Amino acid sequence: MKTVCIYSYGGPEVLVYEDAPRPHPGAGEVLVRIHAAGINPVDWKIREGQLKAMLHHAFPLVLGWDLSGVVEALGPNLTRLKVGDEVFSRPDIARDGAYAEFIVVRESELALKPKSLDHIHAAALPLAGLTAWQTLFEAGGLAAGQRVLIHAAAGGVGHIAVQLAKWKGAQVIGTAAAKNHVFLRSLGVDQVIDYDTERFDEVVQPVDMVLDTIGGDTQERSWKVLKRGGILVSIASPPKAVVASADGVRSAFVFTQPNASQLAEIAKLADAGKVKVIVETILPLSDATRGQELSQRGHGKGKIVLRVV
Ligand SMILES: NC(=O)c1ccc[n+]([C@@H]2O[C@H](COP(=O)([O-])OP(=O)(O)OC[C@H]3O[C@@H](n4cnc5c(N)ncnc54)[C@H](OP(=O)(O)O)[C@@H]3O)[C@@H](O)[C@H]2O)c1
Repeated sequence: MKTVCIYSYGGPEVLVYEDAPRPHPGAGEVLVRIHAAGINPVDWKIREGQLKAMLHHAFPLVLGWDLSGVVEALGPNLTRLKVGDEVFSRPDIARDGAYAEFIVVRESELALKPKSLDHIHAAALPLAGLTAWQTLFEAGGLAAGQRVLIHAAAGGVGHIAVQLAKWKGAQVIGTAAAKNHVFLRSLGVDQVIDYDTERFDEVVQPVDMVLDTIGGDTQERSWKVLKRGGILVSIASPPKAVVASADGVRSAFVFTQPNASQLAEIAKLADAGKVKVIVETILPLSDATRGQELSQRGHGKGKIVLRVV
């Protein structure tokens, strides 16, 4: 099978498009024929070795942890899925990823793909969808009527988080470059802030939650806009708990985990038209290098996806 893998950490030049043996499913595992694989910033962060203290990968390592495809074979005694089912997943990031024609995934990490989405759009949804779900609802406890500030609202995670927050009945404030403001309003964002020309901490009325996708100065200034008892949830860098307690607010850092039942909920919302997935760029698997370079520029609208079949 074709794969895109790395034999060492480094820049885009370490990505290798090559043939590799097709993996076999063991106990509790499913072999999936991948139709499309989403690209996420974590792919190039792992390629660069930024997560090597936390994840002990062996080489060669197949990158990419977002996929949509079809069940090709099942490990022994599995009954929830059958050969031919269309599935999508954000598989375990500690194992080989989805820039490949086939992948072995634990059954517990797979859900049926939304029927209304093709594989390209379905492959763009699991990682961003689970991240939005786990930050807004699990860590943040976002409820109807609350106010949430979502940083980088036009990005892969941001544009899904905006829609999940609106579905929940929250008021949404989003930051983005001016070119994305019409897009954000079309998703239902109530207040759009141009991070290039406005300081969000000077114009945002107090919020119940901040979803921090940026870190650094953006995270530092985010404390100021929280109501007492509010929560700053970051996926960029762990917030300082001591700042939180001094300000009478709470904080959390989320590292997204695979979760088939949450994926099934997200699939229902996609099929009900409550969540739309925006794919800005589609590239062939052999062009993964270009996809990662685009992702690394950090100014995409929605998602980048590799077409495998
Ligand atoms: N901890 C976890 O489990 C987890 C999970 C998912 C993602 N992440 C991290 O979260 C970050 C975002 O991921 P993503 O997939 O959404 O990335 P992405 O698709 O590349 O989106 C990045 C977005 O950031 C916006 N942006 C850049 N600078 C900004 C600023 N100063 N203020 C506001 N927006 C800004 C860009 O929009 P403009 O064009 O408008 O500038 C772009 O839309 C990445 O660092 C990723 O690694 C972490």
